[in-house]
Amino acid sequence: MSDHQLLQWSEHFNLSGHQLINAQHHQLFGLVNQLYDLIHRGGDIESIISITRVLLQQTEGHFAEEETLFYRLPRDEQTLHLLHHKHYLEALSAFLERLNSGVDMSVESITDQLRSLADWYQSHVLHSDSKLVTNC
Ligand SMILES: [Fe+2]
Ligand SMILES: [Fe+2]
Repeated sequence: MSDHQLLQWSEHFNLSGHQLINAQHHQLFGLVNQLYDLIHRGGDIESIISITRVLLQQTEGHFAEEETLFYRLPRDEQTLHLLHHKHYLEALSAFLERLNSGVDMSVESITDQLRSLADWYQSHVLHSDSKLVTNC
């Protein structure tokens, strides 16, 4: 387990009824924590960029998986959930671009950006993804 954790996994996040979605959430939490720990241990920028790229790819795969379950939601909730995914991927891609650009690369700045992404993600799992799996 990482020394520095941004996202603490708990039963709270275990959404009943869909093992794959739970496993993917668990894995994504782990990647965010790995990234956070690496930043705090003064890890090199290439490693930080590399993990962020994996996080982006896995998040894309996870969202695609969730979107196969959207038929369970009313149309307006599908639209909203899809929009959340789109905005999050844009924010994560922008974070990766900033890392690549080397502009404003202080530990404080990177940490703030990662914290904001992590907060969004945690809230999304609890408030949006929970609606996807509860009707299984
Ligand atoms: Fe999710
Ligand atoms: Fe979602």
